[in-house]
Amino acid sequence: MARVLLVIAGGIAAYKVLEVIRRLRERGHETPVVLTEAGARFVTPLSVGALSNAPVLQDLFDLDREREIGHIRLARSADLVVVAPATADILARMAAGRADDLATATLLATGAPILAAPAMNPHMWNHPATRRNVDRLAEDGVHFIGPEAGEMAERGETGVGRMAEPAAIVEAISRRLAGGGALAGKHILVTSGPTHEAIDPVRYIANRSSGRQGHAIAEAAAAAGARVTLVSGPVTIPAPPGVTLVKVESARQMLAAVEAALPADAAIMTAAVADWHVEAAPHKLKKTGGAPPQLVLSENPDILATVAKGAARPPIVVGFAAETEDVVARAKEKRIRKGCDIILANDVSAGVFGAAHNTVHVVTADGVEDWPRLTKREVAERLVAHLAALMGGG
Ligand code: CTP
Repeated sequence: MARVLLVIAGGIAAYKVLEVIRRLRERGHETPVVLTEAGARFVTPLSVGALSNAPVLQDLFDLDREREIGHIRLARSADLVVVAPATADILARMAAGRADDLATATLLATGAPILAAPAMNPHMWNHPATRRNVDRLAEDGVHFIGPEAGEMAERGETGVGRMAEPAAIVEAISRRLAGGGALAGKHILVTSGPTHEAIDPVRYIANRSSGRQGHAIAEAAAAAGARVTLVSGPVTIPAPPGVTLVKVESARQMLAAVEAALPADAAIMTAAVADWHVEAAPHKLKKTGGAPPQLVLSENPDILATVAKGAARPPIVVGFAAETEDVVARAKEKRIRKGCDIILANDVSAGVFGAAHNTVHVVTADGVEDWPRLTKREVAERLVAHLAALMGGG
């Protein structure tokens, strides 16, 4: 069963959302609720809480709640976020990327798909500003149900603006939860990019990874309907739409972020993790006129092996192997040593870093499959199709 996070904004139609909650609960879904300040003027936290049987959250700065749940975790744990009623105001704030209350901060932080059920006066719905906001949100990937034509709460007013009926909203929610691609309902964890290992506050050790392959995989998984957590080292490319991005610098931070993101249905470790770190100096190292400083390296944790051998091991763990010689033989050995199910091995002697293409060999317990030279996006799409087939989704 899914976790459907409801954001109730301030409109007359808010009372209808109680019926949406009741129907979702009947279907066995969890329904945590974020109630905006204006929303709480139309329905009470008490009635919402009684129906949802889950916390009703109202305040971004409620410290007790922040410690207990945290709006970021709330945003990430949802399979779908439903904004109903979606008022002109909350649509405007969403379109602008505001995070000035718990509702908008949660909407900004979520990687889950968003379904909005607009409800407002027809003049407000038809206003160019609202048209603009709705168009922008649709471009951002927000889905809409309604509004419908009909009589408005204001007596005598008719036109488009009435919120879709609860049954139709629940139907749209079920469609989104069920459909939407071969990886719908799955949580996919991807690491990407290089790591930076600090030498002192201004210097670090890095590598040439661009993050292109990992980001392409995260994007393809999200496009296939998965909830995606992308843990990325420092890169210059933008985060793909619809994924939850966790930015890290060092290998140790990456491991912590990966462990915090588990459980997952599959983990794909694309990051070029530094093998060593330096005990970073607290202040900038200075030339002293004497001998140059000696860097003492210590081994980093192996994130792939830690996850593949850990208690919270996802059912499918995928690693990459960047090699310059004996590519397949080394990948076979690496697959077993690190305990993963699949290794995508690539020959990096021919300048793969930052390039658009990749030639990979897929090493599994069943043998080796050689993929032709493909773009990184094509590699990502093939891998996602392969994972979906393994998970029985297509
Ligand atoms: N990896 C990891 N954590 C590390 C090192 C590597 O998670 N500390 C992962 C990478 O994300 C990749 C895989 O392990 O999926 C292989 O990385 P590679 O650098 O080829 O492996 P190494 O362990 O560094 O192997 P070696 O140096 O022996 O070639």
